[in-house]
Amino acid sequence: MSTRQCAPTYGGTSYARVDHGNFQSHVTGTLNTHAPASSPLAGPKGSWLTGNLTDFGQDPLGFLEKCVRDYGDFVPVRFLHQKIYLLNDPADIEDVLTTQARNFRKTLGYRTPVMRRIFGAGLVTSEGEHWVRQRRLAQPAFHRDRIATYAKTIVGFTEEMIAIWKDGETRDIHHEMMQMTVRVVTKTLFNSAVSPELNEVIASSSVVMERFTTQWKWYRALFGLLPSVMSWRFSRGMRRLDNFIYGLIRERRASGEDAGDLLSMLLQARHEDGSGMSDEQLRDELTTLMVAGMDTTALALSWTFYLLSQNPDSVALLHEELKRVLGGRAPGFADLPQLSYTEMVIKETMRLYPSVWIIAREALQDCDVGGRTIKAGESLFMSQWLKHRDPRYFKNAGSFLPERWREEEMKQLPKYAYFPFGGGPRVCIGNSFAMMEAVLALATISQRYRLIAPPGYQVAPWPAITLYPKGGILLKTVSR
Ligand code: HEM
Repeated sequence: MSTRQCAPTYGGTSYARVDHGNFQSHVTGTLNTHAPASSPLAGPKGSWLTGNLTDFGQDPLGFLEKCVRDYGDFVPVRFLHQKIYLLNDPADIEDVLTTQARNFRKTLGYRTPVMRRIFGAGLVTSEGEHWVRQRRLAQPAFHRDRIATYAKTIVGFTEEMIAIWKDGETRDIHHEMMQMTVRVVTKTLFNSAVSPELNEVIASSSVVMERFTTQWKWYRALFGLLPSVMSWRFSRGMRRLDNFIYGLIRERRASGEDAGDLLSMLLQARHEDGSGMSDEQLRDELTTLMVAGMDTTALALSWTFYLLSQNPDSVALLHEELKRVLGGRAPGFADLPQLSYTEMVIKETMRLYPSVWIIAREALQDCDVGGRTIKAGESLFMSQWLKHRDPRYFKNAGSFLPERWREEEMKQLPKYAYFPFGGGPRVCIGNSFAMMEAVLALATISQRYRLIAPPGYQVAPWPAITLYPKGGILLKTVSR
């Protein structure tokens, strides 16, 4: 495998972003091992009052890197009174997400006022019986046969997006991808006509993310209790999103139409007593799917174009495959098995820039993980950002090398060394949908345009609910 220009990352000892340059392995040799279960655990010292919350809030990714670099694969930390263990061994992660999934629920982070305001009791945040029932209801919309029918919509909206691009323009690719994916998700799942309000929805999302990140900064969170410009903007953004979603529900209830989509399925669902879902329950599910579906996939595509702008060899291989398989025509669902390099590009992007960078769980009862007792109420963090860049599992971990996914040794990878879609019962419901959307959109755009960056252009990751590009991703369109 050749080593090409690596993806920006930051290692080193300080928390400062060190974008570009060679990837400095933050996980080396004996430091990063699973200490015997009998030995006492060591973790970063924090302040007596807030524990490690301030350090985490200032630079979440840098803090996590420092934890595993300095203390290994099982690191105790504390946020205020909350005890948390950072798990970095794929076997422990698998244990928590799959084998012992019943012993855990999502953490307090999913139940904060901000998260409740965004997702309510939708699939991402709900638990127990309610979650089981809602997951069963939503599942058919994500079956293979069903998502195959979404392919045309995806390609159609992608073509519409690039139809107005002109050669030589600089565009914020993240913004473009958000606009495209929100249209895809609303059309495929809710059969909604494209509305100008969607732009407002997108405009709201960065405010929502901004508000979310301040949760970790306890002092700002305290100020957040007082009316502030940010909380006002957040409330306005959420009101706009609500208006849009309640509008969809009202329209469908009024027409009584069975569009055969997820919205109709949810509207027809009945509780045991024969009653249907309330408008509020529907709002929570639709908002959840819309936010989860547009944001994550848009990020995967945006980071892909960023990485491709720095890796011309990969672009050449991608173009070669697109020419051979498609020869200039629009891609379709049947082409997916042949677009293997295109898929590897997306997989490799999600390795270096996982849209979901951390998963958190809280123990419902005392249990044993990696030979250590986790007490009821204690939390666990498992980070894709850390695992996906771990040189013990990925050679040249900081380099963008899509072709690595072809190699025999990658088939031996422990399952939870790479888990962009999570795992176990709460695995991403939209994973196949997202992969299909990303591959088809990448193939469609790359046949028409190459997106290039000025020399030395770098974008820092901003770990909000998902991994945002700070300041967007500004690339220049070059017609092919
Ligand atoms: C590249 C794209 C995507 C990535 C990386 C991604 C990642 C994830 C991850 C890691 C989880 C698990 C979180 C946890 O266990 O705490 C998750 C859950 C979820 N995702 Fe995705 N996702 C993507 C696309 C989508 C799409 C397209 C949809 C829907 C249209 C979607 C809907 C959901 C929902 C509803 C859940 C919660 C599932 C449950 O708890 O039952 N995601 N996603």
